[in-house]
Amino acid sequence: MASAALSTAANPSQLCAGKNGLFSPSRALMGKSIKGLGLGKEKRGRITCQATSIPADRVPDMGKRELMNLLLLGALSLPTAGMLVPYASFFVPPGTGGAGSGTYAKDALGNDVVAAEWLKAHGPNDRTLTQGLKGDPTYLVVESDRTLATYGINAVCTHLGCVVPWNAAENKFICPCHGSQYNNQGRVVRGPAPLSLALAHADIDDGKVLFVPWVETDFRTGDAPWWS
Ligand code: FES
Repeated sequence: MASAALSTAANPSQLCAGKNGLFSPSRALMGKSIKGLGLGKEKRGRITCQATSIPADRVPDMGKRELMNLLLLGALSLPTAGMLVPYASFFVPPGTGGAGSGTYAKDALGNDVVAAEWLKAHGPNDRTLTQGLKGDPTYLVVESDRTLATYGINAVCTHLGCVVPWNAAENKFICPCHGSQYNNQGRVVRGPAPLSLALAHADIDDGKVLFVPWVETDFRTGDAPWWS
């Protein structure tokens, strides 16, 4: 048991901290007139703190505190990391799903396009959409000799971005939105589209069609590729 006397008019509960901080503020009492108790006038109006120290065996030692802090940190970190990882992955570009900088072409069912199987199902001069670089709809081209062309044609119209269907009867790509037309290699032949459709290399890797960014001159126009 320890006691202290403070001669101030502040809130008693703010005044009863002892040196080691273990005194109970609830023990702060306004000193009553203790005239009748035989004490002098100077004792009147004083705040008396009766502070009780917590027994030493009830204060966790430093090792236990650190252990509890670690447990608390671990309990908070795991669910936090679980939420942050998917959130952070949102900002990471999707994996290419292919070798190097390429992307394996995917069919309508999301399966990799196997060149030999594709050629069995698609005849000469066929142009069928697959999923290409960055998920863009990209035409695979079957040449008249039943081989796959070494390029794919991005189907996104260069006017306002509609997907341009292949019109086999017209031997052109004709945009349904504003009527732009492209020849069978995707070169623009009628506006309002200002540019030809973008190209990608269509390589064969382990039997599968692999789209690779086209950074060379556009063979249709002789110009630098506007899309790279
Ligand atoms: S979006 Fe294709 S012509 Fe306008």
